[in-house]
Amino acid sequence: MKDINILAIETSCDETSIAIIKNGNEVVAISILTQMDTHAKFGGVVPEIASRMHTENITMVLEDVMNKADMKISDIDAIAVTYKPGLMGSLLVGIEFAKTLAYVYNKPLIKVNHLIGHIYANAINNKLEFPLLALVVSGGHTELVIMKDDYQFELLGSTLDDAIGEAFDKVARILNIPYPGGPGIEKLALQGKCTYELPKPVMDNSYNFSYSGLKSYIINLVHNETQRGNIIRQADLACSFQTVAVDELARKLELAIKNTGIKNVIIAGGVSANKYLRNEITKVIERNSAKVSIPEFKYCTDNAAMIGAAAYPLYLKKEFADYSLNAESQANIV
Ligand code: KG4
Ligand code: ZN
Repeated sequence: MKDINILAIETSCDETSIAIIKNGNEVVAISILTQMDTHAKFGGVVPEIASRMHTENITMVLEDVMNKADMKISDIDAIAVTYKPGLMGSLLVGIEFAKTLAYVYNKPLIKVNHLIGHIYANAINNKLEFPLLALVVSGGHTELVIMKDDYQFELLGSTLDDAIGEAFDKVARILNIPYPGGPGIEKLALQGKCTYELPKPVMDNSYNFSYSGLKSYIINLVHNETQRGNIIRQADLACSFQTVAVDELARKLELAIKNTGIKNVIIAGGVSANKYLRNEITKVIERNSAKVSIPEFKYCTDNAAMIGAAAYPLYLKKEFADYSLNAESQANIV
């Protein structure tokens, strides 16, 4: 069969990324331009600045990826783009760019859900084995789903309030750790001990999650202790937070493995870059004689390679979008 090269575009938040993916699993070339340093000055992503920067940079990112791949647009079989969820203005820049390329070069257009993209980051240099349990942990989502086949999802549970990545970012903010907070908390936690007693974000034995109680407890604790003139042991607090937050994920995942009997597990989303999480999940996997796939570090956070990987099954099914494609800011996997 002829090789299929998909040009994929990701602009849902603060990374402008374009990649060329061959046959859904090989990264021919990728370019990622992060705006992190700009947004860090404001303590979080400023949507208006994000979309302006995507507009400024996207054509150069395309040029860079085409040069790296040493390919022309005529070598490309389809154009894929993230259309939900994300920041409205940021998504629109990528969508409009993708539509223009598809129209001018007469290529099919494929719309990709960003969260499904995170899942398919596990298909890069790898083959997904169904049925599988997918745990998606990102800045906006915490979801546990069963995947019976390509694009066949069944939701087991999700967060009832804050996503785990959001909790990492908010706790980081109160500890004056620069945005994005997740990596900063992880680094700080390595220097501390888990000496703070924190409320466990335990819901019940459903597969749902809740992180706002834990986040608010920490914010109140820091305010109260600071007002009393007491010192916050930052590294110990980061360690205690990371432990309770991640342990709950591991507990729910183990419950799902036991109850469903599904032994193939994949982890997806930015928080899967966290090494404590990777270790704890590995323990669950070993205890249950299961198998786990976690994307390479560079494909855990936002990137266009995962969008190209997620677009490939849609290309095979000829599920193409038309030129009326629009952005949606909110979305889940199912
Ligand atoms: O998947 P992602 O890049 O963007 C979304 O789709 O949301 O995830 C970003 C989230 C942020 O909340 C960030 O703090 C978190 O992933 N994150 C981490 C780590 N690296 C990124 N959280 C904990 N530990 C990390 N090493
Ligand atoms: Zn993401």
